[in-house]
Amino acid sequence: MSERYNQGIRIEGLTKRYGAGDTAVDALKGVDMQVAPGEVVGLIGPSGSGKSTLLKCLGAVIEPSAGRMTLGEQIIYEDAWKIPDLRALRRDKIGFVFQAPYLIPFLDVTDNVALLPMLAGRPNAESRKRALELLEALDVGHRARAMPSQLSGGEQQRVAIARALVNRPPVILADEPTAPLDSERALTVIHLLEDMARQFSTAIIVVTHDEKIIPTFKRIYTIRDGRTHEEAGEGR
Ligand SMILES: Nc1ncnc2c1ncn2[C@@H]1O[C@H](COP(=O)(O)OP(=O)(O)O)[C@@H](O)[C@H]1O
Ligand SMILES: [Mg+2]
Repeated sequence: MSERYNQGIRIEGLTKRYGAGDTAVDALKGVDMQVAPGEVVGLIGPSGSGKSTLLKCLGAVIEPSAGRMTLGEQIIYEDAWKIPDLRALRRDKIGFVFQAPYLIPFLDVTDNVALLPMLAGRPNAESRKRALELLEALDVGHRARAMPSQLSGGEQQRVAIARALVNRPPVILADEPTAPLDSERALTVIHLLEDMARQFSTAIIVVTHDEKIIPTFKRIYTIRDGRTHEEAGEGR
């Protein structure tokens, strides 16, 4: 395996069982996956196959049952959490993009993005400057003072991507980020994620069943009944 995968996010033999006894559900049955800095991989599979469970484990939102998860040199999970402050991990190391943008309705676009660095203790002016730079890179700089309700769906999703990127996390997890968008906007969002991955060396995992964007991935993990398989995608 290539060197650069040592720097990204990696999981080995990850399992997740919900519940116990007769009603237990084995949602992940030993998943291996690695994503290098700068890489965007697709994760596809039918409903109920474990996609959201895997993303939540990767995002330290739920605790796996067993296995290993590392980010660069750091062991995050090995049969138990290995770092004490999971909130700080989520805030500083992982960006989330969801199907719905979940912007805060009473903050303008800039502050929706600047809030996270502010919460991480950065000065307000610096946080807003960083937010504006990203909004410009994502082509929504002209909407910086607008309120979320004044934006189109595509613009809101780009703001949500700016928010996921603002703390320059090494990992971005996106769960169906293009579902509400038409084909052209869906492709724009994926190309933006690719640019951002390259520019900031971010490892990006995109859960999708969106036929429009599947051909853009160079590498795809398919998941079925809690097990993943890696395949080459059509992307160049
Ligand atoms: N909180 C939960 N408690 C019990 N079972 C769950 C829970 N969340 C998901 N599951 C089960 O785990 C399996 C995988 O679900 P999920 O990860 O949501 O799949 P996907 O996102 O691919 O649709 C399904 O059988 C689902 O019913
Ligand atoms: Mg799901």
